[in-house]
Amino acid sequence: MPHPYVLLSAAVSLDGYLDDTGPERLLLSGPADFDRVDEVRASVDAILVGAGTLRADNPRLLVNSPERRAARLAEGRTEYPLKVTVSGSGELDPAARFWHTGGEKVLYTTDEGAERARVLGIAADVVPLGAELDWRRLLEHLHAARGVRRLMVEGGGLIHTQLITQGLADELQLAVAPLFVGDPEAPRLFGPGAYQGGRLRLTGTRQVGDVVLMRYEPTAPGTGPLPSAADHHWLALACELAALCPPSGTAFSVGAVVVAADGTELARGHSREGGDPVVHAEEAALAKADPTDPRLATATVYSSLEPCARRASRPASCVRLILDAGVRRVVTAWREPDTFVEGADGSGVLESGGATVVMLPEL
Ligand SMILES: NC(=O)c1ccc[n+]([C@@H]2O[C@H](COP(=O)([O-])OP(=O)(O)OC[C@H]3O[C@@H](n4cnc5c(N)ncnc54)[C@H](OP(=O)(O)O)[C@@H]3O)[C@@H](O)[C@H]2O)c1
Repeated sequence: MPHPYVLLSAAVSLDGYLDDTGPERLLLSGPADFDRVDEVRASVDAILVGAGTLRADNPRLLVNSPERRAARLAEGRTEYPLKVTVSGSGELDPAARFWHTGGEKVLYTTDEGAERARVLGIAADVVPLGAELDWRRLLEHLHAARGVRRLMVEGGGLIHTQLITQGLADELQLAVAPLFVGDPEAPRLFGPGAYQGGRLRLTGTRQVGDVVLMRYEPTAPGTGPLPSAADHHWLALACELAALCPPSGTAFSVGAVVVAADGTELARGHSREGGDPVVHAEEAALAKADPTDPRLATATVYSSLEPCARRASRPASCVRLILDAGVRRVVTAWREPDTFVEGADGSGVLESGGATVVMLPEL
């Protein structure tokens, strides 16, 4: 089930805090950065914050610029993005500004929390997600029931930590402010957790007044059948690589990338690469990886088309090459149609060989 694109947004002090412990919200950004955040808000379908942030800051979470709101309306969108909050307990202040400003609101909660929210008279669409709150279900619901395609998450730390450790964040926009908090009781941007092992991808930096905006993309593949946001990014790269293939009337144009579990790219390739008229994308990529690399056993192969199970042009199919390399996870966008080979079923053969195949047909 598709999810919205999830953009985490936060401002932090130089020592990594989101706030201090005083009664007022600590203003980390300056006017230029607040305006940048307003611009991002105006660009998304929904804004989400945790119940902790509602209780601590009593925010309105509006698009403040009348011009940006008018532009949204002119594009046929709602004046304000949908406001979304998350609470397990349902223990929320019904008079909070969040409920009484802007457009529509949704509260995702547990069955118990929904009961409490009804008793309190929370002015929102209350969606119970069962005994516990499951982030994948929440994101699927926002996509399917509310049409949310871009979701901005504005904290706090507990929410950011869960979304990043569960591989559900597509992007992190971090504004680093030139001040210190220095209070160990203050909330941190990221708490303890099972984070991805390797490095995130830096996709941009910009000075905004006296803060620096940094944009990062998580890189770690998902595990087993559960796709991560990074799976989408890597598969999108494989699809882009397919565009590099010399055209052919008798074979598909395919791109492939091999990625270690910590998000390190091990190799990439595309069909008919390097003047070889019959080389396949997965074959070209795997030929560049070191066959003794122990990371292959936990790596993921991304291929824009499912790997071939049978071929006339070479002794080994790509499914065989993948399984022989020790790779046990493949992410692909498209089952091979019968155009050149009937009943190819590379996914079925991979699964019989002990590999997990994840289909992302939206790509
Ligand atoms: N600098 C910035 O950019 C920025 C942005 C936002 C917030 N902040 C700061 O961050 C602080 C608040 O952060 P926080 O970490 O304390 O709170 P938070 O992340 O905003 O919210 C945490 C609350 O969300 C609910 N929740 C989260 N995950 C859940 C799950 N899996 N299941 C059920 N409920 C779940 C729980 O609500 P219940 O307790 O109701 O069950 C939990 O207590 C404030 O000081 C605020 O000023 C700073």
